[in-house]
Amino acid sequence: MSRAIGSKYVVETSPQAEEYLAAVEDVIGSDEVQGLKYFEHHHSTTRFQHCLNVSYYSFLLCRKLGFDAKQAARAGLLHDLYHSSPKCTKEHLKNHPRIALENARESFEISDLEADVILKHMWPIRKGRPSYPESYVVMFTDKYIALIEACMCIKDLRRHSAKKRI
Ligand SMILES: [Fe+2]
Ligand SMILES: [Fe+2]
Repeated sequence: MSRAIGSKYVVETSPQAEEYLAAVEDVIGSDEVQGLKYFEHHHSTTRFQHCLNVSYYSFLLCRKLGFDAKQAARAGLLHDLYHSSPKCTKEHLKNHPRIALENARESFEISDLEADVILKHMWPIRKGRPSYPESYVVMFTDKYIALIEACMCIKDLRRHSAKKRI
């Protein structure tokens, strides 16, 4: 059962999420994407949950704006497709979009737009300005979601330290 952060709709069963599920159906159940559940991301969640959050809200935003919501959703789900836990160095921040794109291409049919979304999602840390409006949506959504996940991590740390003081 998958649910984006802040959403009450279960992707696999809620009628409200039907359109989203149809967009990512070939990707979300794959071993490659399901395997992201075994990796921590931003210290507060799993990489699968992070990718789902980015994908789901990018889909809603693109649909609202009249952009290609399906491709944004697919690429959003694949934008951090790597199965390792490297240290968060500047090199990693710059290199992982290329690794994610290589991994995505190994397992799925990836369009030019989807490739751009995946490769450019770390702009401006990584050089290469996005070429499609959908790439901008995913790039900003990724940063916004990362901020929420970082805040969740800080909240957890504060709760733990408060418990220790009691
Ligand atoms: Fe990333
Ligand atoms: Fe990300």
